[in-house]
This record gives sequence, C-alpha cells and structure tokens, in this order.
Amino acid sequence: MELKEAICERHTKDYGTAYKPSECIVTVGGKHVIFNLMQILVNPGDEVIIPVPYWVTYKDVVNYAGGKCVFVESDEAAGFTITAAMIAPHITSRTKVLIINSPSNPSGGVIEKDEFEKIFKLAQSRGIWLMTDECYCRFLYGSEPFSIAAQPGARDTVIVAGSLSKTYAMTGWRVGFGLAPAHLISAIGKLQSHMTSNPTSIAQKAAVEALRGPQESVGLMLGEYRTRRDYVVKRLLDDAKVAVVPGEAFGTDRHIRISYATSMEQLQKGLDRIEAFLKELN
Ligand SMILES: Cc1ncc(COP(=O)(O)O)c(C=O)c1O
Repeated sequence: MELKEAICERHTKDYGTAYKPSECIVTVGGKHVIFNLMQILVNPGDEVIIPVPYWVTYKDVVNYAGGKCVFVESDEAAGFTITAAMIAPHITSRTKVLIINSPSNPSGGVIEKDEFEKIFKLAQSRGIWLMTDECYCRFLYGSEPFSIAAQPGARDTVIVAGSLSKTYAMTGWRVGFGLAPAHLISAIGKLQSHMTSNPTSIAQKAAVEALRGPQESVGLMLGEYRTRRDYVVKRLLDDAKVAVVPGEAFGTDRHIRISYATSMEQLQKGLDRIEAFLKELN
C-alpha cells in the first residue's frame, strides 16, 4: 500500500493525474504489467495496434495472448512520430488495444501533446483501450514531460504502464506499475497473485525511497544521457556515416539501434571499434 500511494502521489505531482491506490498495481518491472495486461484484455483474434519501430516485447506478448498485431509504419523523415491520422485507417471492429510508447524505444520518436490528445480522442471514440508505455517519459530532450492520463475522462480508457527502471536507473530492482480503472487492476491482481504475487519487499522499500526522495538525480542523469546521445549521433551520423546493426527485431531492417545507456568510456571504445572495422572494409 505504501508503494502504491507513493506511485499515485508521484504521478499526481509530475503530471496532474489523481490516481488512487485501488487504480494502481505494482509489478515485477514494467514488462510484467504489459504482459499481464495483454493476458486479461486480449482474446484470440483481437487486434492490437503497434507503431513501428516497436519495442520487441509488445509483439510477443500480444501473440502469446492469441492476439493479432496490426503494425503502423512511421516515417524517419518525420522523426518516427505517430499521428491519429496514421492510426485511424488501421482500426477495425476487432481492435482492442492501441499501444503508444512516447518517447519510443528504439527510435526516440516523440508524440507532441496536441497530437497525443488527438490519438487519445480517436481511441476513446472508437472504444479502444489506449496503453501508454511511460517507461521513457522523463527522457525528453526538447519538451516537457506529460501524461495523456491527465486528460479529462482518460482514466476510464487509458492504461499507464510505468517503470522505475529507466528514470531511477533501477532496472535490476524489478519494479514497475500499472495505473488503470479499478476493475482492470483487480483482474491483473488476480492473475498476478497466482504468478509472482509482488516484487520483493526490499525492492518495494527502495522504490518508495526513489519516488518520495529528492528527484535531482533524474535531471542529472538526463543531462548525462544527453551528452552521450549527442556524442553517439555525431560520431555515427555526421562523421563516420556508418550503419551497423539492423533493427529487424524492432520491425525495421532499415535502421540501426545503439544503446547509449552505458559509460562514455564504453561508447568511445565501441564506436572506435566500429570505425576501425569499417575502415578495414574499405
Ligand atoms: C519501451 C519499454 N517499455 C517497458 C520496458 C520495461 O522495462 P522494465 O521491465 O525493466 O521495467 C522497457 C525496457 O527496456 C522498454 O524499453
């Protein structure tokens, strides 16, 4: 209960929502809430709309639940963003859930607030659940974080999938959460009670501290990530002009994905090796 309260408080402070603990479930990482959610919502043949490129797990958890993935291509030239107009033609009578992940893993694509509101209204008017994966919600380099769940009426049809893994660099602690209407939370709770029960009590205590303690580390880490991101982008795209690992697993073989969630030292070493390798090819 203490952690559920801390999650609701943090979300209210950061985004102006007003979730109650009965609308909150704590899971073993963000993955866990997404998996459980698909299990309780998706029946065989139901369709789930997923923008491309997507985080690998979405496709597999939908398939595991017997659902059908419906992919919406995004455009690199438009910064991989997604609009309501791009989604609308993919909605059918079988559409159950729309998954939105902004900022996106792997593309970094961001949906601006106005457009996200249009997407929310589209999903709401068509009776579709909107799952917003807020895992990277603090990782914005040019705009302010927001949650679509703060929109009036959103709490009836929006499901927030959250995680402490990225914002607080707590991946190994395995703490995630879901914010959703109480009846969905209760259904997830039933499934989870036979599966993992809860994250360990020590991880729960650590998560309370992260959420209620000073928040400076979030901004400091973001600054550091910006340095690393700019470095990677510059070395690869401006100077070296190299392409490395195809992003096939993420639904696109036209792009590469590089994680900069590692030290500058490692990044330097990695990029030097790539550069040297490519020079040899010449
Ligand atoms: C888009 C996205 N959502 C959710 C997660 C889940 O993270 P965790 O299970 O560590 O909370 C990840 C992890 O990489 C992710 O990239």
